[in-house]
Amino acid sequence: MYNNIDLDSIDLSVAAPMQEPERQHYFIAKLRQIVREKSQELGRPLFCCTETFGCQMNARDSEKLRGILELAGYELSENPESDVVLYNTCTVRENANLKVYGRLGYLSGVKKRNPGMKIALCGCMMQEPEVVEKIKKSYRFVDLIFGTHNIFKFAELLVTALESDRMVIDLWKDTQQIVEDLPVERTYSFKSGVNIMFGCNNFCSYCIVPYVRGRERSRKPEDILREIEGLVKDGVKEIMLLGQNVNSYGKNLENPVTFAQLLQEVEKVDGLERIRFMTSHPKDLSDDLIEVMKHSQKICRHLHLPLQSGSSRILKQMNRRYTKEQYLELAGKLRREIPDLSLTTDIIVGFPGETEEDFQETLDVVRKVRYDSAFTFIYSKRTGTPAAAMENQVPEDVVKDRFARLLTLVQDISKEMSARVQGQIQPVLVESMNEQDASLVTGRLSNNLLVHFPGTEELIGQTVNVYLKECKGFYYLGEIVDEKTLHFEK
Ligand code: SAH
Ligand code: SF4
Ligand code: F3S
Repeated sequence: MYNNIDLDSIDLSVAAPMQEPERQHYFIAKLRQIVREKSQELGRPLFCCTETFGCQMNARDSEKLRGILELAGYELSENPESDVVLYNTCTVRENANLKVYGRLGYLSGVKKRNPGMKIALCGCMMQEPEVVEKIKKSYRFVDLIFGTHNIFKFAELLVTALESDRMVIDLWKDTQQIVEDLPVERTYSFKSGVNIMFGCNNFCSYCIVPYVRGRERSRKPEDILREIEGLVKDGVKEIMLLGQNVNSYGKNLENPVTFAQLLQEVEKVDGLERIRFMTSHPKDLSDDLIEVMKHSQKICRHLHLPLQSGSSRILKQMNRRYTKEQYLELAGKLRREIPDLSLTTDIIVGFPGETEEDFQETLDVVRKVRYDSAFTFIYSKRTGTPAAAMENQVPEDVVKDRFARLLTLVQDISKEMSARVQGQIQPVLVESMNEQDASLVTGRLSNNLLVHFPGTEELIGQTVNVYLKECKGFYYLGEIVDEKTLHFEK
């Protein structure tokens, strides 16, 4: 955990300061006082359980929320029978939504047994007014609701909820505010996400993200670099720069900076070994970025470049602002310039009005680009988006049939592409013990593939050279190669 907040020096006998982050530091101290008192009264520590749905942006937000809880003295737990349960929600597809309602149904029983517990909901789903109405009506036992723009206020809001019997709701439509310097509880000691921007301005016609995450805001490069330097001092070797469209980073800053320029600065951070980023919108991917990636020692050989559809007609309806041909040209350029790059993508099947011909165009792009891997999604209608009002929603059986065909193609190609580095020796950052076999550890290649090889716990967080013995479809089995052997083989 990295934080340098001195809670003991905060005077809780005076009113909370108005400016941030000092105000939140005050409320974290106040929360800590409440937790201490309650814990003494009960004769046991207080527990909190958080669960995160959705993308890496949400995962990073949850690390911040957990940082606040931990600094306030809560013990983090996986058990929903806790004193505080917090769900950080996602609403990108309906499934994500349904999961949260399922969890809430279960929690209502838990809360009947433990009436003192507090249930908090935050994240993208809470930015939808219909969702909040439904919770107010059907899930009265929820204690706190907040959104994506004010997660930095969590300590203050939780204090309010602890001091009140009512449902506390604080939702902002949008914000320009970016609050720095709050605590973070990292999931991994050796890798971390780093937000470089928030929100999205693209309004792809199927997508709810711009409505729930607000307009695009970039963090200042100096704040980003300061955070990364702090993380590296704390043992982080790999960072993932996060934004809905990292290629448009920096456009609205007082002193505009491009994403390619930011990457060059990040590269200079001593001790940092690997840089990843998510997500790149094809319409904004610059030649400068390709140049920087090509010559970089640290940027990983992986680019996630969402296609969504291979049909120029559907892409126009989706408001993606590129054509099939432009996408293919870009992918071709990337493959030529950086041959060992792994290209991955997102594809939606069954967008309104998609015909078999449109779908064939998608298959055609998949065959031509030969993705290393792809996430495939069935189109999900999101209230309030332009696509939800479009006629010609595609019948479910047709979508399912297309989805199955796409998945088979994607997987066949992915198996072949994954085998590309078989027989090579590559650096691997070890992430964990293998879940199935305790004699193995699991690590990640620069191109994002996983490799399992014999090893022990001490290797976690280290970068080692691994011989990639056998590709097993989407992952590798390997063997660690020590420096001496490596020398010998050369
Ligand atoms: N900002 C990122 C994507 C964020 S959402 C980008 O533009 O690439 C992640 C993925 O979810 C999208 O790439 C898209 O493929 C999928 N998605 C978004 N809205 C969807 C919807 N309504 N139905 C199905 N899939 C959707
Ligand atoms: Fe959604 Fe498009 Fe923004 Fe990605 S770029 S978050 S798909 S609107
Ligand atoms: Fe979901 Fe919000 Fe991410 S809707 S995908 S958690 S930005």
